[in-house]
Amino acid sequence: MIKLLEWDTNFFGYKIGEAQGLPDFEEAKRENYKLLYVKSKTRIPDLDSRNCFFDHRIIHRKELTESTEIENVKSLRGSPLTPDLINLAYEAGHVSRYKLDPQFRNDEFKKLYKEWIQNSLSGKMANEVFGYFENEKCLGFITVKIKDTEASIGLLVIDPTAQGRGLATVLTRAAESYAESCGANYLLVATQATNTNACRFYTKNGYNEYNEELIYHVWINA
Ligand SMILES: CC(C)(COP(=O)(O)OP(=O)(O)OC[C@H]1O[C@@H](n2cnc3c(N)ncnc32)[C@H](O)[C@@H]1OP(=O)(O)O)[C@@H](O)C(=O)NCCC(=O)NCCS
Repeated sequence: MIKLLEWDTNFFGYKIGEAQGLPDFEEAKRENYKLLYVKSKTRIPDLDSRNCFFDHRIIHRKELTESTEIENVKSLRGSPLTPDLINLAYEAGHVSRYKLDPQFRNDEFKKLYKEWIQNSLSGKMANEVFGYFENEKCLGFITVKIKDTEASIGLLVIDPTAQGRGLATVLTRAAESYAESCGANYLLVATQATNTNACRFYTKNGYNEYNEELIYHVWINA
């Protein structure tokens, strides 16, 4: 049984669905699907033999304990979308499945990540966005969504010229502090297993591997 993903279909302009386990290819063709996302805890040999792209997503989680004062960080909630923020969003998208799957041929990742930061600034997709500033230039940002006692990081990115200087550490502390002040006990973040920089970063900052899944991309008639 394939479930239509309405948002993805409208946003990318072709029919996208989701299936559990090996999908019914006849149904997919009959219903004119172009792409299926197949989520699974384990590898699916039939999809591997078709050379389907898959994303190994790891959820890291940290228990929150205390709030602290953070410098050089300011809220971007309600701020306009600027070229700097768009470029940073593209940088965040560079390691995503929308960029790494070569069968996305129309820079879909750019469209998606621009929408993501725009909807985060406006409050639709995030409760808060923090930017790290030096000489009034934004060098990175983090978005945070609160859902009851669990909060999650959506986007975290630092300008490549400023990486390795502890800026993401500062932004993550700001996000943790904010989430804790909103009543959250945990902060979660999803990243790709292949994004070793990010996995190292989260481990170093006290996050533990909490869950994982594979997301296959099955292109129909591709
Ligand atoms: C992951 C990312 C946010 C880390 O930002 P950062 O400001 O460089 O991280 P910090 O300086 O605060 O922390 C450094 C630690 O993170 C890790 N690290 C991640 N990326 C690094 C980089 N490019 N250079 C050096 N260290 C990096 C290392 O473990 C490092 O600690 P170490 O030097 O003791 O090994 C940044 O690399 C980035 O923007 N990447 C592209 C977007 C992305 O992958 N976002 C996360 C998706 S969930």
